[in-house]
Amino acid sequence: MSPSAPMRLAVLVSGSGTNLAALLSAVAQDPDFGGEVVVVASDRPDAGGLQRADDAGIATVVEPLADHPDRAAWETTLRRRIEEHRPDAVVLAGFMRILSGAFLSGWPDRVINTHPSILPAFRGAHAVRDALEHGVRLTGSTVHLVDEEVDHGPIIAQRAVEVREDDDETSLHERIKHVEHELLPACVKLLCQGRLEVAGRHVRVRPT
Ligand code: GRF
Repeated sequence: MSPSAPMRLAVLVSGSGTNLAALLSAVAQDPDFGGEVVVVASDRPDAGGLQRADDAGIATVVEPLADHPDRAAWETTLRRRIEEHRPDAVVLAGFMRILSGAFLSGWPDRVINTHPSILPAFRGAHAVRDALEHGVRLTGSTVHLVDEEVDHGPIIAQRAVEVREDDDETSLHERIKHVEHELLPACVKLLCQGRLEVAGRHVRVRPT
């Protein structure tokens, strides 16, 4: 990658893809973003994010886990198909599968995830439900670099969201997503601009 070339991004989705949409719109609106989405991949053929990618003229990859004898075979194929698009970094935007070190080693400190809680609280696939059940008054959004442990890698940014008395999982998740839609593109932009310095668990954001 030459210093002036935009960073090539692969985005992985399993769901509706509203975070993907926020990222695409940030890239489209910000001439200084420093990145472009070159492929959107999913483990689910029905993921809404795939349609959004299609609509934006972006290449898509669908690789269901069930089409493979085991997780390792699935992941190897997924990685190979993503690599065909030569991404410099990978964004997990609501991707609900765990990726192993073998996959992550392709993009060291360049796989980014958005998680709907203030980590390290409420890791896992039901973060919003778990926060509500626990009775916390504050939860929120975390964007972090991905390591081999689930929802664990070095934290880039976090923002709190208040839990309201009348919240259910849907209403709380909607407000968290609203925050994610700003935080994820902002963090991906920092990555694209080469402004993230990682030292152990700590991520320092270099000033411009
Ligand atoms: C987001 O809240 C993300 O943090 C979680 O799943 C949700 C995906 O939403 N892991 P969307 O598909 O981007 O709308």
